[in-house]
Amino acid sequence: MKIIRTTEGLQAYRKTLDDSVGFVPTMGALHAGHCALIEAAKARHQHVVVSIFVNPKQFNQAKDLECYPRTESDDQQLLETLGISALFLPSVTALYCEDDHYVVDELLLSQDRCGAARAGHFRGVLTVVLKLLNLVQANAAYFGEKDYQQFELIQGMASALFLNTRIESVPTVREADGLAMSSRNRRLTKAQRMLAAKLYPCLRNSESDDAARSSLSHAGFSVDYVTSAKGRRFGAVRVGAASDEIRLIDNVRIKI
Ligand code: PAF
Repeated sequence: MKIIRTTEGLQAYRKTLDDSVGFVPTMGALHAGHCALIEAAKARHQHVVVSIFVNPKQFNQAKDLECYPRTESDDQQLLETLGISALFLPSVTALYCEDDHYVVDELLLSQDRCGAARAGHFRGVLTVVLKLLNLVQANAAYFGEKDYQQFELIQGMASALFLNTRIESVPTVREADGLAMSSRNRRLTKAQRMLAAKLYPCLRNSESDDAARSSLSHAGFSVDYVTSAKGRRFGAVRVGAASDEIRLIDNVRIKI
């Protein structure tokens, strides 16, 4: 596994690969959900490039950025066992030069759901993902369905901006009790972890969005939203005190 830290290094490395390339962008703190993205990419491409970059521009709260789990050496060890071709580990200044005033904005879907609760979040995601896609020039890039709105927005961006990379989604990987795998789960206390397991069944088993909202509140969550669209029910909740809260999201297929 080649470790690359500069954008020039990545561009030079990419020129040496003439076979099909799959790309998995991550923010590290890798778990089985990331492994599923990498396995999906490995099944379809000769080379897989993974990036780890905790993108400061997509955090709308300083505390969330500060507390985001960073497990770089465990991540590198895990990636060595997965047989990827290269790991891109850029610094903040490698991706954002000092006078970088360019952003990618989407004006409709990004304002809804998670975008309504996290101002500027999707602008940060789309901007960094466009930079990464332009650098890696992959045939396809892989994103988890837990962050479904993110997947939809990145797919829309790739289509609207005529990018050469196909955007693929991979089903959510869950813990044995149904909790969707997420890097933020590491921050949950034992009691919060028990509560977190109720998000998935509440979304899946409720008769309506209203019923899901009230059973989530009743279970002890602060509910950001529950809403359904295109055959899926989406939910976002918060656990913990305001100064140290952890936001959890999930979505399930529903019959319409
Ligand atoms: O889903 C994530 O981990 C991030 O939002 C992404 C796509 C790597 C962009 O920073």
